[in-house]
Amino acid sequence: MARRWTNTLTHADVTPKAVWLNRRQIMAGAIGLGAAGLAGQGQAQAALEPNTWEEITSYNNYYEFGVGKTDPAANAGALDTADWRITVDGLVDNPGEYSLTDLIGGLDVEERIYRFRCVEAWSMVVPWNGIELADVLDRIGVQDRAKYVAFETVVQPEVMPGVSRRVIPFPYVEGLRLDEARHPLTLLATGIYGNPIPNQNGAPIRLVVPWKYGFKSIKAIVRITLAEEEPPTTWNILNAREYGFYANVNPTVSHPRWSQATERRIGGGLFATRQDTLMFNGYDEVASLYDGMDLARFY
Ligand code: MTE
Repeated sequence: MARRWTNTLTHADVTPKAVWLNRRQIMAGAIGLGAAGLAGQGQAQAALEPNTWEEITSYNNYYEFGVGKTDPAANAGALDTADWRITVDGLVDNPGEYSLTDLIGGLDVEERIYRFRCVEAWSMVVPWNGIELADVLDRIGVQDRAKYVAFETVVQPEVMPGVSRRVIPFPYVEGLRLDEARHPLTLLATGIYGNPIPNQNGAPIRLVVPWKYGFKSIKAIVRITLAEEEPPTTWNILNAREYGFYANVNPTVSHPRWSQATERRIGGGLFATRQDTLMFNGYDEVASLYDGMDLARFY
């Protein structure tokens, strides 16, 4: 049985069993569910209801395909994700160009139902399928000098209208501190609801860091680089005052142009009340990663 992380749910926790069993049969690498896995669930967690497939796959941010929320669903289908290659370089023992199978084949695929909080103050709950980034880091062999992991998104200008219009600089780049990257909550997602991840959500493989604003969760990854220095990140390059490297969800640190104290849950309807935003998006177990850091300064 694959590992369970305590502060998450699997689909089985929120879906009638018959439906879940059905879905589980079609899910490659489906994970088992033990009573022990349920024991650690807090009250707040039990209330998590995932967004629908329709909501998750039709309201997206993916600037390569346009700046509108429906542009990715309309345009990303043209991205060719077959025969995907990922370059692994920098401070690693096993650098090279990997196929997806070489990079993640044989690793535990887990289902993680995570809150997802965009810096624009909307949120969803998404049932991801993925592997822990830590497992991939072990496979590529991180060298002692490495302190950060950097990621890069594919650029295919012929099918990416946002790239040809240069709406922001591309390739989209992101990064994590190594201890953040190794945290068991940090996923490389390859699926949603047991289906392969749709192109608009970052096929064939994207990062998911549930305690950070969504822009850290870079899509369609084609390069992973281990580095000694903090790598440049897209939104920080664009506007360092508004978007930091850390980007931890924090209701007490406002964006310069809006409050982050509350959020609008997608699918709640036009008149739904806003919800309080939770520190670290509710994933308190990461707090110790930032002991002694001023999170207003390192936003
Ligand atoms: N990755 C790339 N390559 N390009 C992007 O524009 N947008 C980010 C992140 N990853 C983005 C990206 C932002 S701002 C958010 S909120 C999430 O993707 C949205 O993920 P979703 O569309 O799956 O909800």
